[in-house]
Order: sequence, then structure tokens, then C-alpha cells
Amino acid sequence: MTRYCISLLLLLAGCGPPGNIPGVTANTELAAEAAFPAVPAAEDSLELSNKGKPMFQRFGCAACHSITAERSGLMGPPLGGLSDRVLSRHEYDHLQARRWLVKHIRDPQTFPSPYKQEPEYARTHMPPNPRISDEDMRALVEYLWMLR
Ligand code: HEC
Repeated sequence: MTRYCISLLLLLAGCGPPGNIPGVTANTELAAEAAFPAVPAAEDSLELSNKGKPMFQRFGCAACHSITAERSGLMGPPLGGLSDRVLSRHEYDHLQARRWLVKHIRDPQTFPSPYKQEPEYARTHMPPNPRISDEDMRALVEYLWMLR
């Protein structure tokens, strides 16, 4: 019985909100700072972006987003030109713009994009991604940053 309870507790802990997943900062604001303590140097940015590219498929983003400026019939907004849009919404602060992307990807309900107000996107809910590690998030965002 005791053993059963312990297994059940472990199972529940695994299903609950992320508290102690290795490499994942639990608090979203702090996770954004952990992923981006500073803007990556140009040479690191390219390497990170290459690392982030396959994650766009692996984390299921490609099901809803095109990587060009054309929506291509998908449910989410196209991500081509994303960094220009996000920068213009953050007074061209490159660090805060990247941190906003981390927060939005982790918790789109709390940190929605302006597209959420548009009728064509209002009814599609982007799923949260609370289990992507800070390190992977850094690479994924640097990949998105380069999309044109
Ligand atoms: C089920 C469809 C769906 C999936 C899967 C999805 N998204 Fe989204 N995404 C949306 C919708 C709808 C919006 C616009 C509404 C909002 O902000 O929530 C959006 C908005 C965005 C934006 C903001 C665009 C802007 O110009 O501000 C980014 C960035 C983004 N998604 C990235 C991602 C990434 C990265 C993934 C994978 C980890 C992902 N999305 C998975 C539907 C999706």
C-alpha cells in the first residue's frame, strides 16, 4: 500500500505544473531572464539558431505557423518578420523583445500577442509550453528571430 502511494505521488508530481524539471526555471519571468541574461553575440546567434531550427518541428510549432510572411492556410499567424514586429512593440529593446518571446511561448494565455485580438485568431488557443528548457528556449527564440 505504502509503495503504491509513493508511486502515485511520483506520478502526480510528474503530471503537475513544472516545479522541478531539470533545466526549466519554474517562474516564467525568471525563465525569460535565464534564457536571455543578455542579447547573444552575433556569432553565437547563428549557432543557436541552427540548434533551434529542428525544435520548431519537434515542439509542434510548424502545425500552426508558417516560417515565411505567408500564412499558408495555417491556424496561427505567419512568423516571417517576427523579430521586427516584436522589436517595434518593445521600443527596439533587443533583450526585452527576446524575453517577451520566451514568455509568450511558455504561457500564451498570460502573455498573448496582439493577434489574439483579431477575430481570425481569437478562437485558436496556442498551447502553453512550460517544459521547454531555458537552454532550448534560447535556441528556439534565436531561430525565430532570423525568420524573414
Ligand atoms: C494550435 C496552434 C498553435 C501552435 C501548436 C503554436 N501556436 Fe503560436 N500562435 C498560435 C496563435 C493562434 C497565435 C496568435 C494568438 C496568440 O497570441 O495566442 C500564436 C502566436 C504566436 C507568436 C506571436 C506572433 C507575433 O507576431 O507576436 C509566436 C512567436 C508563436 N505563436 C510561436 C509559436 C511557437 C514557437 C510554437 C511551438 C513551440 C507555437 N507558436 C505553437 C497558434 C499556435
